[in-house]
Amino acid sequence: MLEARATLDLAEAVGPVDPRLFGSFVEHMGRCVYSGIYEPGHPAADAEGFRTDVLDLVAELGVTQVRYPGGNFVSGYRWEDGVGPVDERPTRLDLAWHSRETNEFGLGEFMRWTAAARVEPVITLNLGTRGIAEALDLLEYANHAGGTTLSDRRVSYGSAEPYDIRTWCLGNELDGPWQLGHRTAHEYGRLAAETARGMRQFDPDLRLVVAGSSAASMPTFGAWERTVLESCWDLVDEISVHAYYEEGADLADFLASGVAMEGLIETVAGIADDVVSRAGGTKRIGLALDEWNVWYLRRHQASFQPQGWPQAPRLCEDAYTLADAVVVGGLLITMLRHADRVSSACLSQLVNVIAPIKTEPDGPAWREATFYPFASTARHARGESVPLSLQAPTLITPTHGEVCVVDAVLTATEDEGASLFAVNRHPSEPVEFVLDAADGRPIRLLGAQVLTDSDVHATNSIDHPTRVGPRPLGGDDGEALRLRLPPVSWAHANLLLR
Ligand code: AHR
Repeated sequence: MLEARATLDLAEAVGPVDPRLFGSFVEHMGRCVYSGIYEPGHPAADAEGFRTDVLDLVAELGVTQVRYPGGNFVSGYRWEDGVGPVDERPTRLDLAWHSRETNEFGLGEFMRWTAAARVEPVITLNLGTRGIAEALDLLEYANHAGGTTLSDRRVSYGSAEPYDIRTWCLGNELDGPWQLGHRTAHEYGRLAAETARGMRQFDPDLRLVVAGSSAASMPTFGAWERTVLESCWDLVDEISVHAYYEEGADLADFLASGVAMEGLIETVAGIADDVVSRAGGTKRIGLALDEWNVWYLRRHQASFQPQGWPQAPRLCEDAYTLADAVVVGGLLITMLRHADRVSSACLSQLVNVIAPIKTEPDGPAWREATFYPFASTARHARGESVPLSLQAPTLITPTHGEVCVVDAVLTATEDEGASLFAVNRHPSEPVEFVLDAADGRPIRLLGAQVLTDSDVHATNSIDHPTRVGPRPLGGDDGEALRLRLPPVSWAHANLLLR
């Protein structure tokens, strides 16, 4: 059997795991909001129309923060449409997803939903069709206590306390020609800088995220980050990184998607550090991976623009395969290894649209295969992140070149508890994973689970909601920890480092 070896050295810890790594994203797209998180009249809906079956799954998923309301949607959105008496709200065309937006769900509903879900809100501003004035209006409406026209409007609509939203994204994917208000890097950099400056005049302690490239494949990738940061590095805390992966002709290539994410993180971090140091600064700009996932973008691009402007159409509701879930687990390992740099992340999206949770209108909610690695990592990745150097067999892949068949990371807490997260990216061979400690300490196995399946394309569905799911994984913790990782698998082990 193939064997992969690693030696744990706690001195290699890169830093604490920020809970904000386990964020997600709710966009007015398809059925993420309507019949996703919100469905008045559903048997499980609460008085607000929030689906409590979905709220329960969101809690189990371990989501910590949720970005809203877009995405591409936000670049044509007027936030004022979504506040005030529901029957007075306008219905509008959403040009991003060719849908009809009733505005029945808006900022107030989202803020009450975040309270019910116990997650932090992250609000994206429209810097596509709108600008500094509207962004500052929204900030005052949301975060000012009262005594001004805008803040008193929020109070009169039932929210006496300011929302105190701490994290704001300065627009979305404005490098993309599909984006309403698409701009050059120079134009966007200036707009982001001036919007940030205004927001800091209201509250210097806000966390501000400037929009990086929409994908590493964009022709302007890299140059965009450099130009934008040159305009505003001193005014922002984080730069966004968007990363979607999908299976093509080669399974091994897809399973190694974490290698591409690794390169993306290192490239953007390098550019940010270079811009800051050339400007004479020492600041470390965080990376907000605020859209990441497996997304079958190429396969379904034609369906993104439905005919007839439907309300909440079914968009991007692919069922995720076991292989997709292994990739999601692997991407989380990559992020954890860079916990010193990836300061936050949002799995895109939360419900129905490229999502770990699916719902049927007036019907059940269920977990997609990708739910499991996210939920386990969010629950168990605690304390310091400790990258592991692996000696493992390699595979040659078309896109990523030579890659280790195994990838793994460990997180460790002060009480000597630890979690190991590992993937076997080999399409057909099991791998024996062996872990010992540099200081000779024992590594005790308290329990482990594995996500694998004889059919790598098995999925969960409304009729078979538990077809794919984790099962217990045995192991040995004698001289060293030994786990047998099946081909195409993701595993988590609870350990005691004494
Ligand atoms: O998450 C779906 C879309 O992907 C978002 O609207 C956009 O920001 C990205 O291109």
